[in-house]
Amino acid sequence: MTTELRKGIYWVGHVDWSIRDFHGYLTDRGSTYNAYLIVDEKIALIDTVKSPYAGHLLAMISEIVDPARIDYVVCNHAEPDHAGGLTEVLKACPRAELVCNAKCLDTLRRYQGGADWKVKPVSDGQTLSLGRNTLKFIDTPMAHWPESMFTYVVEEKLLFSMDVFGQHYATVHRFDDQDDLSVVMAEARTYYANIIMLYGKQVTKVLDRAAGLPIEMIAPSHGLIWRNQVGEIVQAYRDWSVCKPKAKVVVLYDSMWGSTEAMALAIVDGAALPGVTVTLLKARTDHITLQATEILDAACLAVGTPTLNMGMMPEVGAGLIYLKGLRPVGKSGFAFGSYGWGKNGAQEVSEILKQMKVDLVREPLLSNYAPDAAILDECRVAGRLLGERALALAAAAG
Ligand code: FEO
Repeated sequence: MTTELRKGIYWVGHVDWSIRDFHGYLTDRGSTYNAYLIVDEKIALIDTVKSPYAGHLLAMISEIVDPARIDYVVCNHAEPDHAGGLTEVLKACPRAELVCNAKCLDTLRRYQGGADWKVKPVSDGQTLSLGRNTLKFIDTPMAHWPESMFTYVVEEKLLFSMDVFGQHYATVHRFDDQDDLSVVMAEARTYYANIIMLYGKQVTKVLDRAAGLPIEMIAPSHGLIWRNQVGEIVQAYRDWSVCKPKAKVVVLYDSMWGSTEAMALAIVDGAALPGVTVTLLKARTDHITLQATEILDAACLAVGTPTLNMGMMPEVGAGLIYLKGLRPVGKSGFAFGSYGWGKNGAQEVSEILKQMKVDLVREPLLSNYAPDAAILDECRVAGRLLGERALALAAAAG
């Protein structure tokens, strides 16, 4: 069912209730691919959907206008979850011009060919009048692909923000104030941590530019449209873009026979100071999506592994490779773990933490086989050190 956002501006997207794996991101609550139709003297479609749902998108458009009447198809972002349906949609809109920037056109052509497309290239700051509505195009490079772009409807103070401010969240609702806000914000945080975190510096620049625009509504390419919590989601992005630390410690570990697990639990005990949130994650059972989300706003992390095959356990490695790529900033922490005849596991973890620019508060904390009472005491002391550091970092961040 279509939804009218503003007079003559409609949501015509697709709700993907059953998707659970979005290129490795665990989407427990499904997703949506949002497309928007502006019916004015000229008719514009803002983005499309994943290719399997292009027919559904055209059916949604047909509830409002004949797709053959569309004048412009704007592409804010070439990734296939939004542009995959472009070829089929353009076939159904024979008079439509594809509106996008040069980088976007290049990427689209590498995916889809499109030698026969009619193209209206646009550049940063350019405007396009539809009649009573004016579209303004704002390049947002690397937030999160090189060709990413916002489209702003000047008269309506409405920002089509592609992936930025999105959430993987399937729901019957279309607006933030119609749903459980705590769930919407949690999904927005998960989305930021797993899709956008790497691009924090670029996001800061984008937010600075957007601050110059009056914005009453933000319509992202996934999830709910922000109309009641615009200031809140923008502020959340300000905080997330610098990984603003909370007084929070994440302990991430895996274990073979319980020794590293016992160390992890002792570190949790030590870190659990008044005012400190402590989150224990087991790499083998807690998905990397959750690991990234929990680490986004944590001040500190401890990562533990036993030595297996002269190195760290593979699930710990998977989590660290993922986190290293996402580049969380400003963390303090240390490595820990048990070993038998080779100490390499925790040492490898410590090396990766160093590469991630984690401020290491100590050398790897080791236990030869099962930890004895003295080692467990050392774990509690190290955990307390992280708890105190987390309180200090959160206080400094304000
Ligand atoms: Fe939702 Fe970057 O695509």
